[in-house]
Amino acid sequence: MKVLVVGGAGYIGSHVVKALLREGAEVTVFDNFSSGLRGNLRPGAAFRHGDILDAKALDEACGEKRYDGVIHLAALKAAGESMTVPERYSVHNITGTLNLLNAVAKHGIRHFVFSSTAAVYGDPHYLPMDEKHPTSPANYYGYTKLAIEGFLEWYGRLKGIRYAALRYFNAAGYDVDGELCGLEQNPGNLVPIIMEAAMGWRKKIQIFGNDYETRDGTCIRDYIHVSDLARAHTMALNKLMGGTEKLLVNLGTGEGITVMEMVKKTSEIIGRPVSFEIVGRREGDPPVVVASAGLAKVLLGWEAKHSDVGTLLNTTWKAYQTNAKERRI
Ligand SMILES: NC(=O)c1ccc[n+]([C@@H]2O[C@H](COP(=O)([O-])OP(=O)(O)OC[C@H]3O[C@@H](n4cnc5c(N)ncnc54)[C@H](O)[C@@H]3O)[C@@H](O)[C@H]2O)c1
Repeated sequence: MKVLVVGGAGYIGSHVVKALLREGAEVTVFDNFSSGLRGNLRPGAAFRHGDILDAKALDEACGEKRYDGVIHLAALKAAGESMTVPERYSVHNITGTLNLLNAVAKHGIRHFVFSSTAAVYGDPHYLPMDEKHPTSPANYYGYTKLAIEGFLEWYGRLKGIRYAALRYFNAAGYDVDGELCGLEQNPGNLVPIIMEAAMGWRKKIQIFGNDYETRDGTCIRDYIHVSDLARAHTMALNKLMGGTEKLLVNLGTGEGITVMEMVKKTSEIIGRPVSFEIVGRREGDPPVVVASAGLAKVLLGWEAKHSDVGTLLNTTWKAYQTNAKERRI
């Protein structure tokens, strides 16, 4: 099977490429390195440098081989930033994806796997959140992903593209084999921020509120290991190639971890306390966001295997230690 992985030099994309290569797929990565890393490219995969805003480059990339499928991970993903510069998110996420879909349709590529997000749901109306939960994104980033799911539905109907929209909850962890360890730059997510504090790259972490109605007062989120996520992409692509027209599934564990549990477990793993301070709640942070992961199990036979707090943090700590020499404290 020949697969084009757009955004394959990124954090999740590099793990997806590894999973595809392990399955024996012939993989080409298309990436502009805006946040991806050369070091994330896998030796067994071909590479094309390009931008999804460049329709000609996409046309050439999609026409280069008879691809069985495209996996699309390239996007801007900072929810906060999307509220201050929505124009960038319109162009990069929406226009870029439409360029890609047009090239995919033109070259008759039949299968498309898309990185969607739990942010399409917005504030939870009930928990755990299943795929029938109303979609009402609380930020523009989430809206761009929801809009793309809409385009996929139409391109499915009009152009015969079978698609999977995978709604990831919070991606975390690093390759369980320890081969991939390219660190995210300027991370906005909890686990890398805790790790930066653990490494001494930042003095302490801020915990936004410890007076929520949760087991220790801090927010609960559903963290899904990136190796588990990666495996879901190969399973989704195989399912589409087996004849399924469309798939829309959550990728989460169905269980949550609190911010404080993450901090405490990291302190345990590194053998010294991670410094933190409790500050006020952040506007718009729901106390609990947890997926219902049942549909992915029913439709794909997928479930999380590596997403326990110990594996999430141990694999991440290992990646940070591997990179320690490259960073200034
Ligand atoms: N990390 C998470 O927790 C999370 C959760 C839900 C959804 N997602 C989605 O998963 C996808 C991958 O996320 P990630 O965490 O690996 O992010 P990432 O920033 O590490 O990866 C994105 C990759 O896409 C490339 N890229 C970005 N814009 C591009 C463009 N215009 N042209 C070509 N390449 C471009 C980047 O260089 C990078 O390699 C994104 O679509 C993101 O919205 C991530």
